[in-house]
Amino acid sequence: MHNVAIIENIHQDGINLLKENPDFDFEIIEDTSEENLIKVLPKFDACTLRVSKLNEKIMSNCKNLKVISRHGVGYDNVDLNYIKKNNITLLITATANAVAVAEHVIYMMLSISKGNNQFDQEVRTGNFKKNASSIKTLELFNKEILIVGFGRIGQSLIKRCKGFEMKVKIYDPFINKKIIEEFGGQKIENLEEEIKNCDYLSLHVPLTKDTKNLIDYSKLKNMKREAIVINTARGGIINEDDLNKALNENIIFGAGLDVFEKEPIDKNSPLLSNKKILLSPHSATFTNECKSRMSLETTKNIIDFFENKIDKSMIVKL
Ligand SMILES: NC(=O)c1ccc[n+]([C@@H]2O[C@H](COP(=O)([O-])OP(=O)(O)OC[C@H]3O[C@@H](n4cnc5c(N)ncnc54)[C@H](O)[C@@H]3O)[C@@H](O)[C@H]2O)c1
Repeated sequence: MHNVAIIENIHQDGINLLKENPDFDFEIIEDTSEENLIKVLPKFDACTLRVSKLNEKIMSNCKNLKVISRHGVGYDNVDLNYIKKNNITLLITATANAVAVAEHVIYMMLSISKGNNQFDQEVRTGNFKKNASSIKTLELFNKEILIVGFGRIGQSLIKRCKGFEMKVKIYDPFINKKIIEEFGGQKIENLEEEIKNCDYLSLHVPLTKDTKNLIDYSKLKNMKREAIVINTARGGIINEDDLNKALNENIIFGAGLDVFEKEPIDKNSPLLSNKKILLSPHSATFTNECKSRMSLETTKNIIDFFENKIDKSMIVKL
């Protein structure tokens, strides 16, 4: 019998998969404080993980732990050195969430381009057409989007951008030109130069020491005045202070952020009062469909791992 800790509840579909399998027992752990995890985790040989942190202090007590199954694809909340040293496998829901994130990017691009609900507010406050012509809106048609990072989400996004007849440039030094061209994109080598030409910039890289502050004031200041920047990848890839400054100085048109340097975002963050930014609470994958797919993939990965039939694309290479 394998004992699975569900750290933070997940959609019922994934839980049902474990319930139906006689070889698995599970417990849902809602208190994700370090103190509680140290206390309750040692008896489990597998766990699922959403946004809580699994650090060395917690895991050094978990002598049975063989596998961590992330409900998502990012894994900056896991101490990778520790799991590598201790031969713990890290799994991700590699196929479940790309479409939901790509759709969230399209939603943000459209919403910002169409004035972020301002027309709706005007109609509701009795200003039908009074100020409508002063609200600046934009089209996606014929515009250039620069997608940074051409993995699962970047590849899902390009298909949707093509539907809007956008020109797509891709910055990803690790993906070859031929693959990018097969998707209808154009590979670029110099981010610094190309960022000057794009109308939309969307980030889809992991947060690493190389991508931290990848987009800062020095790049933002060269962008077009009507450019829109979207970050649904990880907080910190765009420098938040620099972004706020660029928006306040009318250097760019708008921004959409689903992820933040600190989550939940600080109550005093200037981003909260900046109307040029469309915010969402790291919720790009919160569609009904995606929650179900992610929970199913998270628990299926654990079952497949113990049954020695895990799909290699779900394993994080360390
Ligand atoms: N907002 C959300 O809820 C949400 C959901 C899923 C994923 N994400 C985040 O989205 C990001 C992308 O996810 P994915 O599934 O597409 O990942 P992926 O691993 O499939 O793709 C990442 C791509 O980034 C490229 N890359 C790495 N370093 C780079 C660099 N320095 N410059 C340019 N390209 C670089 C890689 O070559 C790869 O092609 C991750 O940060 C992930 O955490 C956020």
